[in-house]
Amino acid sequence: MRLALIGFGVVGQSFAEIVSAQSAELSRTYGLRPRIVAIVDSKGAAVSPGGVDLPSALRAKKDSRSLGGLGGVYREGMSAIDVIREVDCEVVVEATPSDLTKGEPGLGHVRAAMKEARHVICVNKGPLALAMPALIELAGHNGVIFKFSGTVGGGTPVLDLAKKCLEGCTIDSIRGILNGTCNYILTKMSSEGVDMKDALSEAQRLGYAEADPTADVEGLDSACKLVITSNYVLGTSMSIRDVDVTGITGVTMEDISSAASEDKAVKLIGHVGDGARVAPETIPLTHPLNVSGTFNAITFDTDPAGEITLVGKGAGGRETASSVLRDLIEIRQDFAK
Ligand SMILES: NC(=O)c1ccc[n+]([C@@H]2O[C@H](COP(=O)([O-])OP(=O)(O)OC[C@H]3O[C@@H](n4cnc5c(N)ncnc54)[C@H](OP(=O)(O)O)[C@@H]3O)[C@@H](O)[C@H]2O)c1
Repeated sequence: MRLALIGFGVVGQSFAEIVSAQSAELSRTYGLRPRIVAIVDSKGAAVSPGGVDLPSALRAKKDSRSLGGLGGVYREGMSAIDVIREVDCEVVVEATPSDLTKGEPGLGHVRAAMKEARHVICVNKGPLALAMPALIELAGHNGVIFKFSGTVGGGTPVLDLAKKCLEGCTIDSIRGILNGTCNYILTKMSSEGVDMKDALSEAQRLGYAEADPTADVEGLDSACKLVITSNYVLGTSMSIRDVDVTGITGVTMEDISSAASEDKAVKLIGHVGDGARVAPETIPLTHPLNVSGTFNAITFDTDPAGEITLVGKGAGGRETASSVLRDLIEIRQDFAK
């Protein structure tokens, strides 16, 4: 199966590493032979119909932050849209940075790929947070499969657990901790008594938070994931504009101490059921959602199975790349039907 990989950062490189390391096993176990025929970053593209040499591409990117070191297969200035239109492939993997105001450049890439009848795997939350119903319709119209497991929960199979393993149950509401950065900060504040500024600096030093942490601490990243989960699992047609969002920047040490005195913890919780909101809430220390550090947790309130909570790492290059691989295997299996 021929793939174009758009975005060669943390997730894109992790995916290339996994494909390179596991090719024999993927073929043996799933009949899947992924061939990455194009890799695009912000400056250009490496294109090779026989498959880009992945170890060389990874080395070039690590050594010089550029795919230029690949020599003849590199085309400086070739854009993702050029690649999507001109390079023969069955699947486009979209892994460029998430933009939550316009959704670009990912939204344009996803639309172009679907119009060219390519299946799409998107780890970028922006296009889905802003235009998920329209993209699902466009995929149906063009007869392509649209997968986006990595947008919620990193490698933790939040979306597919709810969709595939809870068939026959009604899901009445969803509640979850959907952002590892905020959870790390709140955990640090409560367990070590450090204030928010110091906890955020530590999160940035450890690579858990971006240099610009606004989308995380203002609750927007959680809101995106809530929208994607709700639309996929509950069949709503929301965008991020429909979510009432309060981030964690107003949480004080007094709030944390006051919650602790009642055996509770302050957590940034996304909720959809009676409306959709993201806000700091207190939950009992014994509640299954009371996970620490960068973990994510999500509870589906179902009938008749009751509350089901899934806990896992919400981000990370390799973890998220594993979800891309899951999506790819599913596309392969749909092909084979
Ligand atoms: N990292 C995680 O743990 C994680 C988890 C879940 C979801 N995600 C989502 O996955 C996506 C990728 O994340 P990441 O951590 O891999 O980001 P990243 O390390 O910043 O990598 C982004 C890549 O996109 C490339 N890029 C930027 N603009 C482009 C354009 N116009 N055309 C083509 N390529 C372009 C960049 O090029 P240069 O290399 O030239 O800068 C870079 O290679 C994001 O949307 C993120 O929200 C990430």
